[in-house]
Amino acid sequence: MAKITWKPGTLLAPVPPALISCGTLEKPNVMTAAWTGIISSDPVITYVSVRPSRFSHGLIKESGEFVINLPTAALVTAVDYCGVKSGKDIDKFKEMKLTAGASAKISAPQIMESPISLECKVKSITNYGTHDMFLAEVVAVNVDDRYIDEKGKLCLEKAGLLAFAHAHYYTLGKCLGNFGFSVNKARLKKLKNAAPSKKVKTTEAKTSFKTSRNPKKNPLKPTKPLDRGALF
Ligand SMILES: Cc1cc2nc3c(=O)[nH]c(=O)nc-3n(C[C@H](O)[C@H](O)[C@H](O)COP(=O)(O)O)c2cc1C
Repeated sequence: MAKITWKPGTLLAPVPPALISCGTLEKPNVMTAAWTGIISSDPVITYVSVRPSRFSHGLIKESGEFVINLPTAALVTAVDYCGVKSGKDIDKFKEMKLTAGASAKISAPQIMESPISLECKVKSITNYGTHDMFLAEVVAVNVDDRYIDEKGKLCLEKAGLLAFAHAHYYTLGKCLGNFGFSVNKARLKKLKNAAPSKKVKTTEAKTSFKTSRNPKKNPLKPTKPLDRGALF
C-alpha cells in the first residue's frame, strides 16, 4: 500500500451540508454551507465560511446573525438547491416550501423543517483568501420536540441526518458505538475478569445521558459529567 501526496485541498469529509438561514422573518434567505463547525463548548463558539460573492454574505454581515439548521434526508433537494441558486434572484424558502420560523434570541429566522437550529450571533469576520469566516456565538438551540423522548433525551438518530462527502450527499450509516464505548468495553472486560461471578450487563452501548454517573453506583458509566452542550 502507498499513499500519494496531492497539493493542498478541501478533502475533509464527511461534513454537514448545513442550511444557513439569514435575513429576517419577512424576507428570509438560506444558503447551504459545508464549511461550518464548532470551535468551543463554553461559550459555544461556531463558524461558517462564506464567499463574499454570496447574497447571504451581505445579509449576515449587515445583521450580525445567522442560524445553522441541521440537514436531513428529507431536506436533501432543498440542501442542494439552496447551494446552487442565489437568493439575489429568487425566494428559496418559497421555491423549496421551507417554513421560516421566529428564532428565540435573534431576528434571523430558523427553518422549521430542520430538527435542530442553532441561533448564532457574529463576533468577528476574518478573511482567509476565498472565504470570510464568520465566527459566532451560539445563543440558543431549537430542537424539534418529535426527537425528544418522554425522559427528555434527544434521539437525534431518528432525524435522518445528512452528510456531504466528496461532492455527494449521504445519510448516516449504521451506529457503531456511543461516546466512550471503547474505554467502557475495556472496563467491562476488566470487571468481568475481576469478578466472574458478578452479572455484568453487556449492553453498555445504550448509555444514556440520564443514567447515573456515580462510579460507585454505576462502575461502567463515564465518570465525567456529560451534558447536552459539552461532549468534548
Ligand atoms: C453542499 C454545498 C456546500 C456549500 N458550502 C458552501 C460554503 O461552505 N461556503 C460558501 O460560501 N458556499 C458554499 N456553497 C455554495 C453556496 O451555498 C451557493 O453559492 C449559494 O447559491 C449561495 O446562496 P446565496 O447567494 O443566496 O447566499 C455550498 C454549496 C453546496 C451545494
